[in-house]
Amino acid sequence: MTQKTPIALMMDHQSIRKFTSQKVPQTVIDTCITAGQAASSSGFVQVTSVIQVNSPEARSALSKAAGGQAYVESAAIFLVFCADLQRNQQICLRQQQQMPTGFIEQTLITSLDTALFAQNVLLAAQSLGLGGVFIGGLRNQPETVTKLLNLPQQVFPIFGLCLGYPDQNPGQKPRLPLSMVLHQDQYSNDGLANLEKYDKKISSYYQQRSQGKLNLTFSQHIIKTLVKEARPHMLPYLRNQGFCMR
Ligand SMILES: Cc1cc2nc3c(=O)[nH]c(=O)nc-3n(C[C@H](O)[C@H](O)[C@H](O)COP(=O)(O)O)c2cc1C
Repeated sequence: MTQKTPIALMMDHQSIRKFTSQKVPQTVIDTCITAGQAASSSGFVQVTSVIQVNSPEARSALSKAAGGQAYVESAAIFLVFCADLQRNQQICLRQQQQMPTGFIEQTLITSLDTALFAQNVLLAAQSLGLGGVFIGGLRNQPETVTKLLNLPQQVFPIFGLCLGYPDQNPGQKPRLPLSMVLHQDQYSNDGLANLEKYDKKISSYYQQRSQGKLNLTFSQHIIKTLVKEARPHMLPYLRNQGFCMR
Protein backbone atom coordinates (compact mmCIF):
# COMPACT_ATOMS: atom_id res chain seq x y z
CA MET A 1 0.00 0.00 0.00
CA THR A 2 1.44 3.38 -0.97
CA GLN A 3 1.34 5.88 1.86
CA LYS A 4 -0.64 9.05 1.19
CA THR A 5 0.39 12.36 2.69
CA PRO A 6 -1.96 13.45 5.52
CA ILE A 7 -3.43 16.19 3.32
CA ALA A 8 -4.07 13.76 0.43
CA LEU A 9 -5.70 11.35 2.87
CA MET A 10 -8.11 14.08 4.04
CA MET A 11 -8.82 15.34 0.52
CA ASP A 12 -9.48 11.82 -0.80
CA HIS A 13 -12.18 11.05 1.80
CA GLN A 14 -15.28 9.20 0.67
CA SER A 15 -17.74 7.27 2.81
CA ILE A 16 -17.59 3.51 2.25
CA ARG A 17 -20.72 1.41 2.76
CA LYS A 18 -19.67 -1.88 1.12
CA PHE A 19 -16.90 -3.98 2.62
CA THR A 20 -14.98 -7.15 1.78
CA SER A 21 -15.21 -10.08 4.19
CA GLN A 22 -11.58 -9.53 5.27
CA LYS A 23 -11.25 -9.37 9.05
CA VAL A 24 -9.66 -6.35 10.69
CA PRO A 25 -7.06 -7.25 13.33
CA GLN A 26 -7.87 -5.89 16.79
CA THR A 27 -4.41 -4.28 16.91
CA VAL A 28 -5.46 -2.09 13.96
CA ILE A 29 -8.63 -1.01 15.79
CA ASP A 30 -6.66 -0.36 18.98
CA THR A 31 -4.26 1.84 17.01
CA CYS A 32 -7.16 3.79 15.46
CA ILE A 33 -8.80 4.37 18.85
CA THR A 34 -5.48 5.50 20.31
CA ALA A 35 -5.21 7.97 17.39
CA GLY A 36 -8.73 9.14 18.28
CA GLN A 37 -7.65 9.76 21.86
CA ALA A 38 -4.82 11.94 20.59
CA ALA A 39 -7.33 14.54 19.32
CA SER A 40 -7.73 17.79 21.23
CA SER A 41 -10.05 17.69 24.22
CA SER A 42 -11.89 20.76 25.58
CA GLY A 43 -10.23 21.55 28.92
CA PHE A 44 -8.58 18.09 28.73
CA VAL A 45 -11.72 16.49 30.18
CA GLN A 46 -11.59 13.42 27.87
CA VAL A 47 -15.32 12.83 27.64
CA THR A 48 -15.56 10.11 24.98
CA SER A 49 -16.23 6.39 25.29
CA VAL A 50 -16.26 4.03 22.33
CA ILE A 51 -18.21 0.79 22.31
CA GLN A 52 -17.00 -1.84 19.85
CA VAL A 53 -20.06 -3.93 19.07
CA ASN A 54 -19.09 -7.52 18.26
CA SER A 55 -22.27 -9.48 19.03
CA PRO A 56 -24.13 -10.31 15.79
CA GLU A 57 -27.47 -9.99 17.62
CA ALA A 58 -26.63 -6.49 18.87
CA ARG A 59 -25.38 -5.54 15.38
CA SER A 60 -28.63 -6.67 13.86
CA ALA A 61 -30.67 -4.72 16.42
CA LEU A 62 -28.52 -1.60 15.88
CA SER A 63 -28.87 -1.90 12.12
CA LYS A 64 -32.65 -1.87 12.55
CA ALA A 65 -32.51 0.98 15.09
CA ALA A 66 -30.53 3.00 12.53
CA GLY A 67 -33.37 2.69 10.02
CA GLY A 68 -32.34 -0.59 8.39
CA GLN A 69 -28.79 0.29 7.38
CA ALA A 70 -27.44 -3.13 6.39
CA TYR A 71 -23.78 -2.12 6.58
CA VAL A 72 -24.09 -1.72 10.37
CA GLU A 73 -24.39 -5.51 10.33
CA SER A 74 -22.06 -6.36 7.46
CA ALA A 75 -19.06 -4.14 8.24
CA ALA A 76 -16.13 -5.96 9.83
CA ILE A 77 -16.14 -3.45 12.68
CA PHE A 78 -18.86 -1.33 14.22
CA LEU A 79 -18.05 1.31 16.80
CA VAL A 80 -20.44 3.51 18.75
CA PHE A 81 -19.04 6.86 19.84
CA CYS A 82 -20.56 8.08 23.08
CA ALA A 83 -20.47 11.41 24.86
CA ASP A 84 -19.48 10.38 28.37
CA LEU A 85 -19.63 12.62 31.44
CA GLN A 86 -20.32 9.66 33.70
CA ARG A 87 -16.68 8.62 34.04
CA ASN A 88 -15.73 12.10 35.26
CA GLN A 89 -18.70 12.10 37.65
CA GLN A 90 -17.27 8.87 39.12
CA ILE A 91 -13.86 10.54 39.44
CA CYS A 92 -15.45 13.48 41.30
CA LEU A 93 -17.43 11.15 43.59
CA ARG A 94 -14.25 9.29 44.53
CA GLN A 95 -13.11 12.57 46.01
CA GLN A 96 -16.47 13.28 47.66
CA GLN A 97 -17.22 15.95 45.06
CA GLN A 98 -20.38 16.21 42.99
CA MET A 99 -20.13 17.52 39.42
CA PRO A 100 -23.12 19.70 38.55
CA THR A 101 -24.72 18.32 35.40
CA GLY A 102 -27.37 19.18 32.82
CA PHE A 103 -25.64 22.20 31.28
CA ILE A 104 -26.07 22.67 27.52
CA GLU A 105 -22.35 23.57 27.48
CA GLN A 106 -21.59 20.02 28.67
CA THR A 107 -23.63 18.64 25.77
CA LEU A 108 -21.59 20.81 23.41
CA ILE A 109 -18.24 19.87 24.93
CA THR A 110 -18.93 16.13 24.98
CA SER A 111 -20.30 16.21 21.43
CA LEU A 112 -17.44 18.33 20.07
CA ASP A 113 -14.72 16.26 21.73
CA THR A 114 -16.33 13.04 20.55
CA ALA A 115 -16.65 14.24 16.95
CA LEU A 116 -12.98 15.28 16.88
CA PHE A 117 -12.00 11.92 18.40
CA ALA A 118 -14.09 10.02 15.85
CA GLN A 119 -12.75 11.91 12.84
CA ASN A 120 -9.22 11.03 13.98
CA VAL A 121 -10.29 7.38 14.21
CA LEU A 122 -11.67 7.42 10.67
CA LEU A 123 -8.58 9.14 9.27
CA ALA A 124 -6.30 6.70 11.08
CA ALA A 125 -8.35 3.80 9.70
CA GLN A 126 -8.23 5.24 6.17
CA SER A 127 -4.45 5.64 6.49
CA LEU A 128 -4.28 1.89 7.23
CA GLY A 129 -6.30 0.94 4.13
CA LEU A 130 -9.73 0.75 5.75
CA GLY A 131 -12.85 2.62 4.72
CA GLY A 132 -15.87 3.64 6.73
CA VAL A 133 -19.04 5.59 7.22
CA PHE A 134 -20.48 7.36 10.24
CA ILE A 135 -23.96 6.28 11.33
CA GLY A 136 -25.97 9.17 12.74
CA GLY A 137 -29.01 6.98 12.10
CA LEU A 138 -28.44 5.58 15.60
CA ARG A 139 -30.15 8.73 16.86
CA ASN A 140 -33.39 7.59 15.17
CA GLN A 141 -33.94 5.35 18.19
CA PRO A 142 -31.54 6.55 20.89
CA GLU A 143 -33.45 4.78 23.66
CA THR A 144 -33.11 1.39 21.94
CA VAL A 145 -29.38 2.02 21.49
CA THR A 146 -29.05 3.10 25.13
CA LYS A 147 -30.70 -0.11 26.37
CA LEU A 148 -28.77 -2.38 24.01
CA LEU A 149 -25.40 -0.91 25.02
CA ASN A 150 -26.32 -0.51 28.68
CA LEU A 151 -25.48 3.20 28.65
CA PRO A 152 -25.77 4.79 32.10
CA GLN A 153 -26.98 8.30 32.92
CA GLN A 154 -24.61 11.00 31.66
CA VAL A 155 -23.73 8.96 28.56
CA PHE A 156 -25.37 9.17 25.13
CA PRO A 157 -24.56 7.80 21.66
CA ILE A 158 -23.44 10.48 19.19
CA PHE A 159 -23.04 8.22 16.14
CA GLY A 160 -21.73 4.88 15.00
CA LEU A 161 -18.86 4.12 12.63
CA CYS A 162 -18.74 1.16 10.23
CA LEU A 163 -15.19 0.16 9.32
CA GLY A 164 -13.80 -2.50 7.01
CA TYR A 165 -11.75 -3.06 3.88
CA PRO A 166 -13.51 -1.22 1.02
CA ASP A 167 -15.34 -3.20 -1.63
CA GLN A 168 -16.45 -0.13 -3.60
CA ASN A 169 -15.11 3.12 -4.93
CA PRO A 170 -18.21 5.32 -5.02
CA GLY A 171 -16.41 8.55 -5.94
CA GLN A 172 -16.00 11.75 -4.02
CA LYS A 173 -18.86 14.14 -3.40
CA PRO A 174 -17.81 17.62 -4.55
CA ARG A 175 -17.91 20.10 -1.66
CA LEU A 176 -19.14 23.71 -1.67
CA PRO A 177 -16.71 26.18 -3.31
CA LEU A 178 -14.28 27.77 -0.87
CA SER A 179 -15.90 31.18 -1.51
CA MET A 180 -19.09 29.90 0.16
CA VAL A 181 -17.50 28.63 3.35
CA LEU A 182 -14.49 30.87 3.99
CA HIS A 183 -15.47 34.39 5.11
CA GLN A 184 -12.94 37.20 5.52
CA ASP A 185 -13.25 39.35 8.67
CA GLN A 186 -17.07 39.30 8.75
CA TYR A 187 -19.86 36.93 7.89
CA SER A 188 -21.10 37.47 4.34
CA ASN A 189 -23.66 35.89 2.04
CA ASP A 190 -21.73 36.95 -1.09
CA GLY A 191 -20.66 33.35 -1.65
CA LEU A 192 -24.26 32.43 -2.48
CA ALA A 193 -23.61 33.96 -5.90
CA ASN A 194 -21.84 30.68 -6.67
CA LEU A 195 -24.78 28.48 -5.68
CA GLU A 196 -26.16 27.99 -9.18
CA LYS A 197 -22.84 26.70 -10.45
CA TYR A 198 -22.53 24.36 -7.48
CA ASP A 199 -26.12 23.17 -7.96
CA LYS A 200 -25.20 22.11 -11.50
CA LYS A 201 -22.05 20.38 -10.26
CA ILE A 202 -23.97 18.34 -7.67
CA SER A 203 -26.73 17.55 -10.13
CA SER A 204 -24.26 16.06 -12.62
CA TYR A 205 -22.45 14.28 -9.77
CA TYR A 206 -25.68 12.56 -8.66
CA GLN A 207 -26.62 11.71 -12.25
CA GLN A 208 -23.24 10.15 -12.85
CA ARG A 209 -23.22 8.23 -9.55
CA SER A 210 -26.76 6.90 -10.07
CA GLN A 211 -26.40 6.16 -13.81
CA GLY A 212 -29.00 8.84 -14.55
CA LYS A 213 -31.56 7.68 -11.96
CA LEU A 214 -31.06 10.60 -9.57
CA ASN A 215 -31.13 14.21 -10.68
CA LEU A 216 -30.84 16.44 -7.64
CA THR A 217 -29.25 19.85 -7.22
CA PHE A 218 -27.65 20.77 -3.88
CA SER A 219 -30.55 23.18 -3.22
CA GLN A 220 -33.06 20.36 -3.79
CA HIS A 221 -31.02 18.05 -1.58
CA ILE A 222 -31.06 20.66 1.22
CA ILE A 223 -34.83 21.06 0.96
CA LYS A 224 -35.33 17.28 1.02
CA THR A 225 -33.00 16.90 4.00
CA LEU A 226 -33.71 19.96 6.14
CA VAL A 227 -37.26 21.12 5.48
CA LYS A 228 -38.70 18.82 8.13
CA GLU A 229 -38.41 18.29 11.87
CA ALA A 230 -34.96 17.22 13.03
CA ARG A 231 -35.33 14.25 15.42
CA PRO A 232 -37.48 16.15 17.95
CA HIS A 233 -37.30 13.13 20.28
CA MET A 234 -33.65 14.04 21.00
CA LEU A 235 -34.48 16.75 23.56
CA PRO A 236 -36.59 14.53 25.86
CA TYR A 237 -34.12 11.69 25.32
CA LEU A 238 -31.11 13.84 26.26
CA ARG A 239 -32.94 15.22 29.31
CA ASN A 240 -33.70 11.66 30.36
CA GLN A 241 -29.98 10.88 30.19
CA GLY A 242 -29.18 13.92 32.36
CA PHE A 243 -28.23 16.42 29.63
CA CYS A 244 -29.72 19.71 28.35
CA MET A 245 -31.53 20.85 31.52
CA ARG A 246 -30.06 24.35 31.78
C1 LIG B 1 -22.37 12.73 11.88
C2 LIG B 1 -22.60 11.97 10.59
C3 LIG B 1 -23.62 11.05 10.52
C4 LIG B 1 -23.83 10.32 9.36
N1 LIG B 1 -24.79 9.35 9.34
C5 LIG B 1 -24.92 8.56 8.26
C6 LIG B 1 -25.83 7.46 8.28
O1 LIG B 1 -26.56 7.23 9.25
N2 LIG B 1 -25.87 6.66 7.19
C7 LIG B 1 -25.09 6.86 6.09
O2 LIG B 1 -25.17 6.08 5.14
N3 LIG B 1 -24.20 7.90 6.04
C8 LIG B 1 -24.10 8.73 7.10
N4 LIG B 1 -23.18 9.75 7.09
C9 LIG B 1 -22.32 9.93 5.92
C10 LIG B 1 -22.75 11.13 5.08
O3 LIG B 1 -23.92 10.80 4.37
C11 LIG B 1 -21.60 11.49 4.12
O4 LIG B 1 -20.48 11.89 4.88
C12 LIG B 1 -22.01 12.63 3.19
O5 LIG B 1 -23.03 12.23 2.32
C13 LIG B 1 -20.82 13.08 2.35
O6 LIG B 1 -20.33 11.98 1.60
P1 LIG B 1 -18.81 11.51 1.76
O7 LIG B 1 -18.56 11.19 3.21
O8 LIG B 1 -18.68 10.28 0.89
O9 LIG B 1 -17.96 12.63 1.28
C14 LIG B 1 -23.00 10.52 8.22
C15 LIG B 1 -21.99 11.50 8.30
C16 LIG B 1 -21.80 12.21 9.47
C17 LIG B 1 -20.69 13.24 9.52
